[in-house]
Amino acid sequence: MADTRKRVLSGIQPSGTLHLGNYFGMMAPSVALQEQHECFYFIADYHALTTHPEPGDLRDRIRGVAVDFLACGLDPRRTTFFRQSDIPQVPELTWILSCMTPVGLLERCHSYKDKVARGIAPNHGLFSYPVLMAADILVYGSHLVPVGKDQKQHLEVTRDLAMRFNNEYGDVLTVPEPMIQDEVAVVPGLDGQKMSKSYGNTIEIFGPEKAIRKKFMKIVTDSTPMEDPKDPDACNVFALFKLMATKEEQDALRKRYLEGGMGYGHAKQALFEKYRETFSGMQERRRELLEKPDWVEDVLQTGAANARAEAQALLDRVRTAVGLA
Ligand code: ADP
Ligand code: TRP
Repeated sequence: MADTRKRVLSGIQPSGTLHLGNYFGMMAPSVALQEQHECFYFIADYHALTTHPEPGDLRDRIRGVAVDFLACGLDPRRTTFFRQSDIPQVPELTWILSCMTPVGLLERCHSYKDKVARGIAPNHGLFSYPVLMAADILVYGSHLVPVGKDQKQHLEVTRDLAMRFNNEYGDVLTVPEPMIQDEVAVVPGLDGQKMSKSYGNTIEIFGPEKAIRKKFMKIVTDSTPMEDPKDPDACNVFALFKLMATKEEQDALRKRYLEGGMGYGHAKQALFEKYRETFSGMQERRRELLEKPDWVEDVLQTGAANARAEAQALLDRVRTAVGLA
């Protein structure tokens, strides 16, 4: 049998409370990839500095995202899990790549232009963000990089830089393939738009149950009267239900929509119960992990030691190739 095991790498910014969109769009697929591949997942804390978070806040969010990811099923026995800032080889490779990055390539990046348009001060780190991201990927010889559509251009920059390097210095860097999560439908938020922190329409995975139940009850629906048939495929409640329910459960609720006589309140209650069933184990695990900060820190340190060894081996070849050392 051909070896289909690849090195998969992805990073997540420590940017706040995890919501259903993050879970189904990013965490769940990343966790599933552990079954088949050798995964490297990291917390992109150097990237977070581009927007100047308050230091205490940043520290809390780094710890928070580590606990969230572990609670969602990241298995540190199988996956290398670490903080980006524990790998000094990353900024070193960033510099070497920077020296071969045409400024025009960065000027074309939408993400930079969008952030500046939203009022984020255009510092040099924000501008050169894609080079840091390229170093994140290339330093471990990664083959596959699962990301959302918004990161596609950054992956193109990474591939471009790897090919430029190899053309000039010989075949040292692995040119990675993006794995764009197009097929994961966009998870709708309370108002039916894409669920996103920036739209204030999120449902959190970890949080006080009462407040979360209230959010479910606020999901926007149309005003079809209780007794009339309803269209499940045009309903946000049903769209969220589908993410968590089995085929049989979906069919049963679909039937109740189509028959009429069921109010949206009932569908919301069914959805909330599904949510509890799906996430109660993870919520419990998260509570346990919050009691074990030393264990979590140990996971990140062990992951970092492994990641550093991999990164150093690659960097030795890069340094030799460019004439350093
Ligand atoms: P937010 O939009 O809330 O700021 P981020 O941009 O930090 O979320 O996204 C983190 C990860 O979660 C990314 O991989 C992104 O593709 C995924 N993600 C975020 N929102 C959704 C959504 N509504 N549906 C699917 N995936 C999402
Ligand atoms: N830029 C990514 C985001 O905002 C996070 C990230 C940083 C990343 N470095 C990476 C993702 C390397 C994949 C690979 O979501």
